[in-house]
Amino acid sequence: MKDNYILAIETSCDETSIAIIKNGSTVETCTVLTQMDTHAEYGGVVPEIASRMHTENITIILEETLKKSKLKMDQIDAIAVTYSPGLLGSLIVGVEFAKTLALVYKKPLIGVNHTIGHIYANSLKEPLNFPLLALVVSGGHTDLILMKKDYDFQILGSTLDDAIGECYDKVARVLDLKYPGGPNIDKLAKFGKVSYQLPTPVNDDTYNFSFSGLKSSIINLVHNEHQRGKEINKEDLACSFQEVAIDELKRKVELALKNLEIKNMIIAGGVAANSYLRDEIQKIADKYKVHLSIPEIKYCTDNAAMIGAAAYPLFLKKEFADFDLNAQSSSTIIQ
Ligand code: KG4
Ligand code: ZN
Repeated sequence: MKDNYILAIETSCDETSIAIIKNGSTVETCTVLTQMDTHAEYGGVVPEIASRMHTENITIILEETLKKSKLKMDQIDAIAVTYSPGLLGSLIVGVEFAKTLALVYKKPLIGVNHTIGHIYANSLKEPLNFPLLALVVSGGHTDLILMKKDYDFQILGSTLDDAIGECYDKVARVLDLKYPGGPNIDKLAKFGKVSYQLPTPVNDDTYNFSFSGLKSSIINLVHNEHQRGKEINKEDLACSFQEVAIDELKRKVELALKNLEIKNMIIAGGVAANSYLRDEIQKIADKYKVHLSIPEIKYCTDNAAMIGAAAYPLFLKKEFADFDLNAQSSSTIIQ
């Protein structure tokens, strides 16, 4: 069978990324240009700056990606692009660029949902096996999803308030750690111990999550200690926070594995790069004899390779997008 090459584009937040994926699972090349250092000066992503930087860099990233892959545009079988969810201005840059390429080079266009992209990042490592429990943990999402087959998503539960990644970033900010805070808390927590008493989110029988109470309690704690002129032990607070936050995920994952007949599980999204989370979920998977798959760290955070992987089932089914494909800031993954 002839090899298929999908050129995928991701610009939903602060990474400009283009990848070429062979047959849905082999990364020929993936270029990621992060704007992290620019946004770090402001303590978070500034949407206007993000979209302007995508515009400035996207053609350079395309040239670099093609050069590294040694492929020509006429060898590409389809153009895939993240159209939702994300920052509207950033998404528009990617979507319009993808449409232009598809039109000029006469290639089919595939619109990919970013969250689905995070899930399919796992298929760059090994094929997804169903039924599958997917824990999606990113800056914008905290979802527990049951997949009975390809592109079939049943949302068991979601966060009722903040996404876990957002919570990591806010806690990091109050501790004066550089943006994005997640990786910094991950590192710092390794040198700390659980010494701060923090509220545990409500322990109910649903698969929903909650992180805003935890976030607020840490913000209050830090402000109160500052007012009293007391020093915060950042390592200990990072460690204490992380234990409560990850415990919330663990409880719901364990509930799902107890209640459902599932033998395969994946973790997806930026927070899946967290070393403590990876270790703790692995322990639960071992306990329930479930096969756990987690993408390579570089494919956990935003990248176009995962968009190419998620586009492949659509490519096989010839589910192509029209040229009226629009960027959407929010959307659900249920088709
Ligand atoms: O998936 P992603 O790159 O972007 C979204 O789609 O949101 O996720 C970014 C989030 C940020 O909140 C970042 O702080 C978090 O993932 N993150 C981490 C780690 N690496 C990235 N959180 C905890 N530990 C990490 N090692
Ligand atoms: Zn993401």
